[in-house]
Amino acid sequence: MSDTDHTAAQVEDNPHNTATRAYMNKLAGEDLVAWRMAEVTGRLSADERNMQTEFMMGWYCVAYSHELEVGQVKPARYFAQDLALWRGEDGQARVINAYCAHYGANLAVGGKVHGNLLECPFHAWRWNEKGACEDIPYSRAIPPKAKRDNCIPSWPVREVNGQVLIWYHPEKAEPQWEPFEVPEANDSDWTEFRTYEWHVYSAMENIADNAVDVSHFKYVHGAKTVPEYEFEFDGIKRTITAYLKLQTPRGEVDGKIESVTFGPGQGYVRFSGITETVMITGTCPVERDLTHNRMAFTQPRANVDGPSAGLTKAIVKDITRQFDQDKVILDQHVRMDPPMVCEGDGPFGRNRVYYAQFYAGQNKPKPAAA
Ligand code: FES
Ligand SMILES: [Fe+2]
Repeated sequence: MSDTDHTAAQVEDNPHNTATRAYMNKLAGEDLVAWRMAEVTGRLSADERNMQTEFMMGWYCVAYSHELEVGQVKPARYFAQDLALWRGEDGQARVINAYCAHYGANLAVGGKVHGNLLECPFHAWRWNEKGACEDIPYSRAIPPKAKRDNCIPSWPVREVNGQVLIWYHPEKAEPQWEPFEVPEANDSDWTEFRTYEWHVYSAMENIADNAVDVSHFKYVHGAKTVPEYEFEFDGIKRTITAYLKLQTPRGEVDGKIESVTFGPGQGYVRFSGITETVMITGTCPVERDLTHNRMAFTQPRANVDGPSAGLTKAIVKDITRQFDQDKVILDQHVRMDPPMVCEGDGPFGRNRVYYAQFYAGQNKPKPAAA
């Protein structure tokens, strides 16, 4: 039996196979949380699945702000590279590649924060956020090469919306735009974020297609009616607005869901009409065929115990359940380039044109109109 046969046999929708919807449907609570991040084994390779070979430029979430405390060092792996994150005594988050340029120790495993510098666990060389060595405690001289910026590759970092973001560019170019800020994230009238995360074994662009894939809402998510959608592509900004009629205890209400992305990594969804909820998303590639997907929900504090509290909970449950359902499909799919489309499908083609601007060698990304 070839590997491929083996994989095909494994994806039958049976409740004992962890990669299936039947298995996922049985899960709740901590089991479901663990399933979302667990490794999916027996997959085809990234080449066999025709996954993109390049990552797209943009700002990407590599941690929530609360996951990185002052003086803390944290390992992470994104863009097929091992990274070291730390927060200096000045409160600023910093990210450089994980391996020390001296003797190759992993700075994120046992490294310490010294002032604002990251001290290597092996011989205590101290590195700044530009990847330059500023201090070798046992030596009178620092090698000139070590003093240069990017002696260890470094990453531009911003911190907005409760997320630590890094800038990725395939050719290491400087940031081409600044990350967006969602006003509710800094508003004390809104709750702390409730956060959820998933590993999805697919590439960024394929996950992004999901938002414009209008026909799957019926077949994967069981939607009875497909809402009316408006799609707007404006430079680096993509806006999808859905208008729906919602049945509530107070009768039928007009609901609106506005879903905005600023490049491939950053986005938010604003639900209005029946209950005010904002979801901030973050999707970041780990490998060619693996992405880390985050969702963080906030709502007005005044609504937490009000009449719409139950509705907000229902929205969060529905959105996260939908992503569980998407994950089962996306973990196993192969990439069609281009997909074969028919009348009634969403604007896959236009979506691919939007994403093309984020690959190096394509047109420069266009700023969104003010
Ligand atoms: S390996 Fe980092 S200081 Fe030697
Ligand atoms: Fe979906």
